[in-house]
Amino acid sequence: MKKKDFISLLDYTSEELHSLIDLADQIKANPKEYSNSLSGKILGMIFQKNSTRTRISFQAGIYQLGGTGFFFGANDLQLSRGETIYDTANVLSRYMDGIMIRTFAYSDVQELAKHATIPVINGLTDYNHPCQVMADIMTIREKLGKNTKGMKLTYVGDSNNMTLSLIYMCANFKMNMTVVSPMKYQLKEREDVKKIALKIYPDMKLDFVEDAASGVKGSNVIYTDTWTSMGQEKEREQRLKDLNGYMVDSKMMKLADKNAIFMHCLPAHRGEEVATEVIDGHQSVVFDEAENRMHAQKAIMYHLMRD
Ligand code: CP
Ligand code: NVA
Repeated sequence: MKKKDFISLLDYTSEELHSLIDLADQIKANPKEYSNSLSGKILGMIFQKNSTRTRISFQAGIYQLGGTGFFFGANDLQLSRGETIYDTANVLSRYMDGIMIRTFAYSDVQELAKHATIPVINGLTDYNHPCQVMADIMTIREKLGKNTKGMKLTYVGDSNNMTLSLIYMCANFKMNMTVVSPMKYQLKEREDVKKIALKIYPDMKLDFVEDAASGVKGSNVIYTDTWTSMGQEKEREQRLKDLNGYMVDSKMMKLADKNAIFMHCLPAHRGEEVATEVIDGHQSVVFDEAENRMHAQKAIMYHLMRD
């Protein structure tokens, strides 16, 4: 049987993604039933960028399924001294049962997946963050109900890897989405992305706007992320200036649906992309969202790594 990977939502059908989230719900509700399901399996975890949630939720998750995780930091592997991805993929495939990688270029993840004979999971690239949005949709279903069709998610701030993955997540779960960013910080490839999203969900309303007040109106979910993603540290001062006015604060939350929830993949910067009163307020679900990383990823590992 051909091995499977989890590196982009676009490799999965809506039905498959729904089944994965149903499985994540089941694993969360009955963790003991799954405690030996990946007994003896090893997940290699390659991190070329920092991480709190991804690293710990994968390591705890594989352990809870009966397996174990091996962590490799940015300078640990010969990869950092020029060994090729091809050789790394082939060698790791001889020792382990799955690889999770967090890195810069999505093309590196694709290459790893192409040459590894074991499943590869994308733990974030500059382009996308598919594991995060699986936890996000799981959280949305828990808080607002499983019938997500027609719900509106508004993403506010810097359009980045999260924005792209959220668009494809919304399309697959029949949600509408508005991206509120200053034009300079909108996704460059938004026209192509829109075409792909509408193929998945032809009735999807997907808008890219600059004005926060109109964009947020009537939203069921308000989502934001850091204004300075990993690798963009040199641009931080400029970004703080350019994105001034896009902080999600209580005034903005009041324009959304009265039962709206606030989400953030974390790490957060209080007083920049989100006001303290919002992230620490009653509409915020950020810690349930962080917890769900582990449940959603247990479902992904179970799906990919089971014999
Ligand atoms: N949300 C997320 O991926 O967090 P980490 O960078 O801490 O893994
Ligand atoms: N956009 C952020 C997400 C962190 C989880 C980054 O890439 O740094």
